[in-house]
Amino acid sequence: IPVKIFKTPKEGSQQVARIISDLIKEKNAAGKKAVIGLATGSTPKSLYAELVKLHQDEGLSFKNVITFNLDQYYPMEPDALNSYHYFMRKYLFEQTDIDPENYFLPNGLIPKEKIKEHCAQYEQKIADAGGIDLQILGIGNNGHIGFNEPGSPVYSKTRLVTLENSTRIANSHEFGNISQVPRMAITMGISTIMKSHRIILMAWGKTKAPVIQKAVEGKPTEEVPASLLQNHDNCTFVVDEFAASELT
Ligand code: F6R
Repeated sequence: IPVKIFKTPKEGSQQVARIISDLIKEKNAAGKKAVIGLATGSTPKSLYAELVKLHQDEGLSFKNVITFNLDQYYPMEPDALNSYHYFMRKYLFEQTDIDPENYFLPNGLIPKEKIKEHCAQYEQKIADAGGIDLQILGIGNNGHIGFNEPGSPVYSKTRLVTLENSTRIANSHEFGNISQVPRMAITMGISTIMKSHRIILMAWGKTKAPVIQKAVEGKPTEEVPASLLQNHDNCTFVVDEFAASELT
């Protein structure tokens, strides 16, 4: 996996924002919509800030952009402060001209008996949009991508999953305490992610250094889901010097 190392998250994010901007313009010039897969969490916040800046300073338009988010806690109300709907509206959607009809996230309120159908529809919507042109990923300390925890099968699709306790602890700062972190989530699967035409995984900080080393230099295994990206032919890691510090 090619790894691009930047001094700061801001510099890495500026580079990724440029790639997204170029993709949007290139698609629009061809009369098409760019289809972008999005992540939440602390990692992409600086990317979204750069995209908002491009919208404000350079008039980059999101009118012809379709987005699909990787995941959503389950159960979760879309308007709850910890929902990924809320996160995306706050950091990106409400600060750009994206059409609310064009962004999609798994529904954290879908009744249990309808989850399977909902997940199949999510996959279908991605296919109907022509597939994901560019998928943005973060990485969990345990190697998860989306909420595909270690052991997630390579052929997995969008589905309901159980979160590892380590993931719930890592995300508990966004909630009052760990007991409030949902135990489940709906996430795109490994195969959903691998079907994206292009993938950029971002990681910042020293805590991510061991898992970046495993994902890039270890052998591909379902035990480190991000290592499976070694089998994708257009995937790049964008990291800062701290996250790169354990690469040989
Ligand atoms: C979030 C997601 C997760 C995060 C990962 C890293 O949509 O898919 O895989 O990218 O848990 O989270 P942060 O960026 O908070 O370290």
